[in-house]
Amino acid sequence: MSICILAFLILAGVLFTFKLLYVLATAGVLPMTQGALFTSTASVRIEAFLDAVPMNPNELLVDLGCGDGRVLRASRRRYGVRALGFEVNAMAYCMARVLSLGTRGIQVKWKNFWSQNLRDADIVFCYLFPDVMKRLGIKLEEELCPGARVVSCNFSVPGWAPFEVVYPDSTCHGDAIYIYRLPDSCPGREIGKVTN
Ligand SMILES: C[S@@+](CC[C@H](N)C(=O)[O-])C[C@H]1O[C@@H](n2cnc3c(N)ncnc32)[C@H](O)[C@@H]1O
Repeated sequence: MSICILAFLILAGVLFTFKLLYVLATAGVLPMTQGALFTSTASVRIEAFLDAVPMNPNELLVDLGCGDGRVLRASRRRYGVRALGFEVNAMAYCMARVLSLGTRGIQVKWKNFWSQNLRDADIVFCYLFPDVMKRLGIKLEEELCPGARVVSCNFSVPGWAPFEVVYPDSTCHGDAIYIYRLPDSCPGREIGKVTN
């Protein structure tokens, strides 16, 4: 067998194994993720979000379903924030841990974010699925502090009025990024709600 054929078979085997692991890891957590597959946000979209949401180094950014952790690393690099990601997909979690090795200020937890209290978050980032956004809005209203920012890729939070909607300048990655800012005070905890 020629060396080329052998190399091709090894490459095909590696790709197949990778794909199989992806399918198994994703299918296994579907009841928890409710449709939010392990897909990474394009860097042009992350940069657009970082341009639109300035942060202070003492703030905490939380990515709900952090995938391979790229949003955590990019936020840390740009603003020096502390960054925390929750992830239940084993493959995504391992990638996030490995790729973030040696980067201080980043924490990745293999946990379902629905069971976490998010009160310490200053900025919440998410790229989830429409089916969960209403429930997520309720959770964020109950837990986040006044003034916190919420950024949602592609899917809006029903009933909330965005502070800004960003459309990255990209043919393939130009979908909306919704940015919300919770009022500095929240009488009756009507946080982020549309008032009209
Ligand atoms: C579309 S990906 C986004 C990944 C990353 N935030 C990014 O923008 O690159 C959504 C991720 O959320 C994770 N996820 C969905 N529901 C979750 C939950 N309840 N707890 C933890 N992770 C969750 C999925 O496993 C998936 O990796």
